[in-house]
Amino acid sequence: MDTTKTFWLPTRASTFADVVDPAFNVVMWMSLFFLLAVTFGVIYFVVKFRRKHPDQIAQDQITHNFHLELWWTIIPFFIVLALFWIGFKGYLSMSIAPHNATEVKVIGQKWSWIFEYPNGTTSDTLVVPVNEPIKLIMSSRDILHSFWVPAFRVKMDLVPNRYTSLWFEATSKGEFPIRCTEYCGTGHSDMLSSVRVVDYTAYEEWLQNATSAGEGLTPVEFGQKLFASKGCSACHNLDGTNQIGPTWKGVWGIQRKLKSGATVKVDENYIRNSILNPAGEIAEGYQPVMPTYKGIITDAEIDAIIEFYKSLQ
Ligand code: CUA
Repeated sequence: MDTTKTFWLPTRASTFADVVDPAFNVVMWMSLFFLLAVTFGVIYFVVKFRRKHPDQIAQDQITHNFHLELWWTIIPFFIVLALFWIGFKGYLSMSIAPHNATEVKVIGQKWSWIFEYPNGTTSDTLVVPVNEPIKLIMSSRDILHSFWVPAFRVKMDLVPNRYTSLWFEATSKGEFPIRCTEYCGTGHSDMLSSVRVVDYTAYEEWLQNATSAGEGLTPVEFGQKLFASKGCSACHNLDGTNQIGPTWKGVWGIQRKLKSGATVKVDENYIRNSILNPAGEIAEGYQPVMPTYKGIITDAEIDAIIEFYKSLQ
């Protein structure tokens, strides 16, 4: 039997379905029980105690019953307590994200969603690995929105000028709809996206490829994005000071002394070689610690980095 399907609730695709669905079902069945009990009670009493003759007057009217009132106070008290406990347990597990959760930033704006990954990748679809905790850090660029994935049983408002967050762990692969559930203007009902749950390896592959997307950016902007997303910023900086590797600022076109004693001009070829074969031309005073980017960087990306380099005068 496919356990992701339910009779009237959305597909079950996150661990929260195990806490949310029972709570919903308990409240639903209990409400149905009392609805029927009260309705049929009313009908029964109306029929049984109706006025049978036009001149009949009520006799032995009951004004109160101590034991009855005691029990219809005590029983609902425990019912409400049980409902609170079920809800509170679910609330706790949904509020506290595991600290190994992968963080993804969510930006809501009229009328689209932007998902930003730790490596700088941005996407209009949320792609996540299956069976891994994901924490969303959310904010709005304009007005109130609300992020909702019915299949995950999660929903949270996005508020301008502050961050809100939620977390989830997807349990089945597939594509599930994301909705905005806070009325945010004429495009509210078009503020749609989806979350794609994939294997961890497929997720990493996607992240790698998505990083190479420079659409809509100038070469300099793309290069700047790559500076962060490719990890260059861990060792190089842009403010003129040297860290593990030489700064990128103000070095375009200079003659650089190498460890070997030779001198090389910082130009297109030097940068390209330094990225693809970092051990080849080590600048004087530095260790050959940079990993090669051969195979994980495209020519277009190298071009963009060169343009960015040039702009840092
Ligand atoms: Cu955004 Cu409704």
